[in-house]
Amino acid sequence: MSSMRLSAFVRAWLRAPIPSAAVGGAILAIAFAAPATAQSADAHGWFSPEQVVRGADLYERRCAECHGEEKAENFETWPYSAQDLIGMIISFDMPANRPGGLPAQEYVDLVAYFMNRGGLPEGEEVLAGSPALSEIKIPQ
Ligand code: HEC
Repeated sequence: MSSMRLSAFVRAWLRAPIPSAAVGGAILAIAFAAPATAQSADAHGWFSPEQVVRGADLYERRCAECHGEEKAENFETWPYSAQDLIGMIISFDMPANRPGGLPAQEYVDLVAYFMNRGGLPEGEEVLAGSPALSEIKIPQ
């Protein structure tokens, strides 16, 4: 992976005018009215194997045609929360050929895939809305 490229998009993200929680939160609030139960970073994992498979498939179909493997590799070291990553992706109007157009759960499945690539384990929980999305981070 290219760390220069990673820091370039992180810098760009930090300069972005809309806070990630506002962007990602608005979308997720619509889709997930039910409160998520609190989870801890133990052996349960944060997302299911099925979500990771769906996320990988989504990446192939919705992102890889323009980005190849590069973005998925970059996100393996994403230093902020999964919620922030969704906010960043949405704030950059991705996927570019369908800005903001994926169902909320698909953005969540995508970040489950990225977080898993970054080293967070699969488990039995199904990752959905807050607070879990704001709590999980790839260990740096
Ligand atoms: C139709 C082509 C296209 C598709 C599909 C697409 N992107 Fe992009 N994306 C671009 C272009 C062009 C840019 C701006 C130039 C760049 O940074 O590569 C960009 C930029 C980005 C950026 C911010 C800038 C950076 O350097 O990181 C992120 C994050 C991103 N894309 C993620 C995604 C994700 C995740 C998906 C799938 C959900 C996706 N993109 C799908 C074309 C696309």
